[in-house]
Amino acid sequence: MENPFKFGTIVEEEYFTDRVQEVAYIEQFIQSANHLVLISPRRFGKSSVVAKAVKQSGRKNITVNLQQATSVSDLSAKLLKELFKVHPLERVRHLITHFRVIPTISTNPLTGSMDVSFQPGVDGIVLIEDVLTLIEKAHSEQDRIIVVLDEFQEIRDLAPKLDKQLRSIMQKQKNINYILLGSQESMMTDIFEDKKSPFYHFGELMRLGKLPHEDFHQYLSERLANCFVETHEELADRILDYTDCHPYYSQQLAANVWQIGMLQPSTSDPVQKAIDYIVTTHGLDYERLWMNFNRTNKWILQRLVSNKPLQSGEYRTSTIYSALKRLKKDGYVIYSDHYELEDPFFKEWILTNNK
Ligand SMILES: Nc1ncnc2c1ncn2[C@@H]1O[C@H](COP(=O)(O)OP(=O)(O)OP(=O)(O)O)[C@@H](O)[C@H]1O
Ligand SMILES: [Mg+2]
Repeated sequence: MENPFKFGTIVEEEYFTDRVQEVAYIEQFIQSANHLVLISPRRFGKSSVVAKAVKQSGRKNITVNLQQATSVSDLSAKLLKELFKVHPLERVRHLITHFRVIPTISTNPLTGSMDVSFQPGVDGIVLIEDVLTLIEKAHSEQDRIIVVLDEFQEIRDLAPKLDKQLRSIMQKQKNINYILLGSQESMMTDIFEDKKSPFYHFGELMRLGKLPHEDFHQYLSERLANCFVETHEELADRILDYTDCHPYYSQQLAANVWQIGMLQPSTSDPVQKAIDYIVTTHGLDYERLWMNFNRTNKWILQRLVSNKPLQSGEYRTSTIYSALKRLKKDGYVIYSDHYELEDPFFKEWILTNNK
C-alpha cells in the first residue's frame, strides 16, 4: 500500500489540503491586470498553492524556477521551452524571426518536448528581453498569460543589475500576469519593499502561513485511520502539536508514523519512535550544521529550543538581534508571533545533544 503522505515536492490532488481561501484569492487576483508576490518561509507550500490556483484558473501559464537556471541565457531558454508547451513552435515562429540572437531549437526524440539553447557568450539581457517580448506579443489583454517565476530572489545572483533590467522590461507589459515567489524572507522583502529596489511595489504582496489546525488534523487522522483504527485522532493531535502545523514537517512525521503502523502496528508510542528515527537519520547533517555555527548562534539556538529568554544579560541586545536576523535569513529560525527553530527535528537534536 502506498504511503498516503507526501513531502518535499509540490503537492496536488489528494495530497493537497485546505488553502481554499488562498487559492480563491490568487485565482481572483490574477484576473486583474496586476502582479502577485508570494512570500513565506521555506516549505510552507508556496509552489503548491500557486500551482493549484493557476491550474484551477484554466488559463495559459508557464512556470520557471530560477534556482534551476544557471545563467540569464539559460533562464531565457527555459522560459522559451515552457512557452512551446503552451504554443506550438509554428504559431510563434514569425515572432522568433525578430530575435536578435536566434535560438537553437530541436525536438527531443525521447520525450517529444522541445529543447532550446542559445549560443554561449551572448549578452543574457538581450536574450531575456527578446523572450519576454515574444511572450507578451503572443498574447493580448483579453487573453493574458500567467508567468510564474519561482525562487525569484535568485535574480540577485544570476547577474548584476538583472533586477533593474527585468523591471524595465516587465513594467511595460500588459499581456502577462506575473506571480513571483520566494522563500528567503528578508531578501524578498528587500526586493519588493525597499524604496531603492527596482521591484519596489511591483505587485501585491501576499504572505502564506502554516496550515490551519482543524483541516490539517482531519487530513492526517483520516489517512492514519487505516493502520491506527482507535488512536488516529490522538496521533494526528500529537503530530501537529510537535510540528506546530508546519506543512512539510507534519507530512514528513505523519509519513513515518504511518510506516511504523504498517510494519510494527503494536509499537507503543509510534510518534516518538518516528521522531527518534528522523532525528537519527539526519544526525550527521545536524552535527555538521552545529559545528559551523559560531558561539553566539549556538547560544541563541539553545535558548530558543529550551524556551529561555534571550535578554539575560549574557549578550548585548544588538548582538542578539543581528544574529537572529542572520539566522532567519539563512532559514534556521522563523518568526510568526515569536522566534522559533524552523526544523522541529533539529530542535530535538539540539535538545538531546546539548544537555
Ligand atoms: N496544501 C497543502 N496540503 C498538504 N501538504 C502541503 C500543502 N502545502 C505544502 N504541503 C507540504 O509541504 C511540502 C512543501 O510544499 P511546497 O514545495 O509547495 O512548499 P514551498 O513553500 O514552495 O517550499 P520551498 O521553500 O522548498 O520552495 C509539500 O511537499 C507537502 O508535504
Ligand atoms: Mg517552492
